[in-house]
Amino acid sequence: MSRETGIPTGRLSTEVEFKARPSEPIRKSPSPEGTIGSAIRPPHYAEEQHGTWRELYRRQCEILEGRVCNEYLSGRELLQYPSDKVPDLAYLSEGLRRSTGWQIIRVEGYVPEHIFFRLLANKCFPCTDFIRHPTELEYTPAPDMFHDLMGHLPLITNPRFASFFHAYGLAGLQVRNDEEIAWLGRIYWFTVEFGLMNKNAHKPAQRTPKETVIYGAGIVSSVGEILHSLSDVVKKEPFNVDAISQRPFDIHHMQDTLFEIASFDELESEFRRWASEKALLV
Ligand SMILES: [Fe+2]
Repeated sequence: MSRETGIPTGRLSTEVEFKARPSEPIRKSPSPEGTIGSAIRPPHYAEEQHGTWRELYRRQCEILEGRVCNEYLSGRELLQYPSDKVPDLAYLSEGLRRSTGWQIIRVEGYVPEHIFFRLLANKCFPCTDFIRHPTELEYTPAPDMFHDLMGHLPLITNPRFASFFHAYGLAGLQVRNDEEIAWLGRIYWFTVEFGLMNKNAHKPAQRTPKETVIYGAGIVSSVGEILHSLSDVVKKEPFNVDAISQRPFDIHHMQDTLFEIASFDELESEFRRWASEKALLV
């Protein structure tokens, strides 16, 4: 996660050459790793690490029952995660490619914003391939592959979310100053990481709290955040991209206010409207 903007940017293993324009694939790199389109070589995982995945996966599936959006569940099913061993990034990448044309790029270090934006603009999502220590089942300070794979990937199989994510990356390539990076960082935080959904988000008379479901990866991948975000302690406001872009957040504490979209159609169309008005999308 970037300390400056809070954009959780994954990890990058090697220098990647970024000379391509937004709509072009990124091809060359001094190393096969970290190169878009290159084969992903899985590391050897110890039995203890497979056990960590098994436990995290079992707990996550159990607690998300009835608490997460249907689009997430469809994506999780489509990607066919193994429940008994650490998944292979190449296998999941192929599932993304078949659904929305995205792919995984394996990374292991923090990715600067401009690289992260360029990856998204090329329909690539950076994923780690290390899994947290068994003593960090509840919380890990650095996002691991469980966060990346179980938090982020399922929604990227959804065409509307994937289209929003692509537009987000393209907008990121157009930022002209730190203020505009901060806008995008806040939008990322309150949607991709901590977004909620309620089909009546904008209809107070019909809205009921029990219809609120999760879609943000920062919530989905944390048992504590799942329970906290849906509790009455957290105020829920209807999604408003203009307001969110100006809304500071605290990465060190659980959130006291979160935002509900009505649908991924709304997320995509409102983001595109906002970005066009700010001359970040043409
Ligand atoms: Fe994340």
